Amino acid sequence: MTSKATGSITVTVEGSNKSTTLPLLGGTLGPQVADIRKLYGDLGIFTYDPGYGATASCESTITYIDGDEGVLLYRGYPIEQLAENSDFLEVCYLLLNGELPTNGEYKAFHKGVTYHTMLHEQLRRFYDGFRRDAHPMAIMCGVVGAMAAFYHDNLDINDAEQRRIAAFRLIAKVPTIAAWAYKYSIGQPFLYPRNDLGYAENFLYMLNGVPAEEYVNNPILSRAMDRILILHADHEQNASTSTVRLAGSTGANPFACIAAGIAALWGPAHGGANEAVLKMLAEIGSPENIPQFISEVKDKNSHTKLMGFGHRVYKNFDPRAKIMKETCHEVLAELGIKDEPLLDMAMEMERIALSDDYFIQRKLYPNVDFYSGIILKAMGIPTSMFTVLFAVARTVGWVSQWKELIEDPSQRIGRPRQIYTGAAARDFVPVDKRG
Ligand code: SDX
Repeated sequence: MTSKATGSITVTVEGSNKSTTLPLLGGTLGPQVADIRKLYGDLGIFTYDPGYGATASCESTITYIDGDEGVLLYRGYPIEQLAENSDFLEVCYLLLNGELPTNGEYKAFHKGVTYHTMLHEQLRRFYDGFRRDAHPMAIMCGVVGAMAAFYHDNLDINDAEQRRIAAFRLIAKVPTIAAWAYKYSIGQPFLYPRNDLGYAENFLYMLNGVPAEEYVNNPILSRAMDRILILHADHEQNASTSTVRLAGSTGANPFACIAAGIAALWGPAHGGANEAVLKMLAEIGSPENIPQFISEVKDKNSHTKLMGFGHRVYKNFDPRAKIMKETCHEVLAELGIKDEPLLDMAMEMERIALSDDYFIQRKLYPNVDFYSGIILKAMGIPTSMFTVLFAVARTVGWVSQWKELIEDPSQRIGRPRQIYTGAAARDFVPVDKRG
C-alpha cells in the first residue's frame, strides 16, 4: 500500500504575498504528513527539525509504533502476540517478506539461514588483529564491514537475488561474528555454528559452549533469548535504521550499510543504553541511594540521565519493556535466583520515577533497555555483549528496511539541508596582516 492524498495545507509567508499549497498524505495508521518537497521551489524556504522529531524520512510498510498508546506492530502483528506465539526466524521472514510464512516457506527460510551461518575461514584471522580487551562492538563494526571484502561476488544491490543472498548472509552470520567477538575477548576457542540447533540456541551455544565438554542447552534460556531477539528486531526509523537507510541511499553495499547501523547503535542514547543501565544500577549500589540519584537526574546541571527511561516516540510504556520485565521474572525463576538485587533496584527505581512529577510531566517510562540487561546478566551474558546482542537482533530490521529502500522506485540519495549561521562571505587575509 502506498500513501494517499488526504487534503492539503496552505503555507503563507507573513508580510508577503508568497504562499503555496502542500498536499497532505495519509498512510494506513498514524498521523498525516505534509509533503514539503515543493516548498523550497515555491517559497525558497527550508523546514527545520533537528533530531527529525516531526519528520517522516520515508514511506514504510514494515513497523508501526503508536507512542501514545504504547503499540508496536511488525507488519501489522502486535509485538505481544509475536513474542508469545512466534519465533525469531519466523519474525525475520515476516519483516523481510511482509507476510507470515507457510510451513514450507518457513522450512526453506530456516534452511537458508542455517546454511549461511559459517564465516569465510580467513575472516577468523581478522580477530587476531584486535586487542583482547577491545569492546566487542568495535569488533562487530570491523568484521561486519569486512564482509564486503569476502562476499563481493554478489554486491549488485539492484539484483534481487543478490539482495536475498546478502540478507541471508547477514542474518545468519551476525550471531557467529558476535559469539566469536566474545570468545576472543576471554581467550577461549571459537565454536563453529551447528546446523542441528535453532537460531537462538546456536547463538547461546557459540557464546557459552566449550570444546572440552558436551553443551547442554537450557530450553527456557533459549526461548528467552529468542524472545529478546524478537523484541529488538525492528523499530521504525530509529537512529541506527536511519543511518542504514542514509548509507543505503548512496548505493553502498549492504555489509557497509549494516556496519554503519552497528556503529550508530553503539551510542548510550540508543542501543548502548542496556549496558549503561547496568552500570547505572551498579553505581547507585543500593535502593536507599535511589532518591539521591533521582534528584541528581532532575538537576539539569548534573547532566545525569535515568538510563533505560524515556523515548523519542513512546510517551507511554514501551510494550517491549513490559514483555522484558515478565521475561525477567521467568528467567530468574528458571535459574532459581530468588532475589536479584539489580531487579529489586530496577523495580524500585521504576516505582519511584513513575510517581515523580519530573518523569510524569515529561512522559518518561521504562524503554526496552531498562530490564533487558538484568535478564542478560542473569543468563551469564557479559555487560559488554548487551549492545552486541541488540545488533544481532536488529540486523534483520536493518536489512528489511535497507531492502525496502532499494526496492522503492522513488528513493533518492539522502541529503538534508541546514540553517547556516556561520560567517558571511569574506576575503582571505595574509598571515602578516592578521591581528
Ligand atoms: C533505544 O528510537 C528508537 O526507536 C530507539 C529504540 C529502538 O528500538 O531502536 O527504541 C532503542 O534507543 C531506546 C532508548 C535507549 N536510551 C536510553 O534509555 C537513554 C536514556 N534516554 C534518553 O537519553 C532519552 O530519553 C532518549 C534519547 C531516549 C530520547 O530523547 P529525546 O526524545 O531527544 O527526548 P529529550 O531529550 O527531548 O527529553 C525530553 C525531556 C528533556 O527534559 P527537558 O529539557 O524538557 O527539561 O525529558 C528529559 C530531557 O532532559 N529526559 C530525561 C531522560 N530522557 C529524557 N531525563 C532523565 N532521564 C532520561 N532518561
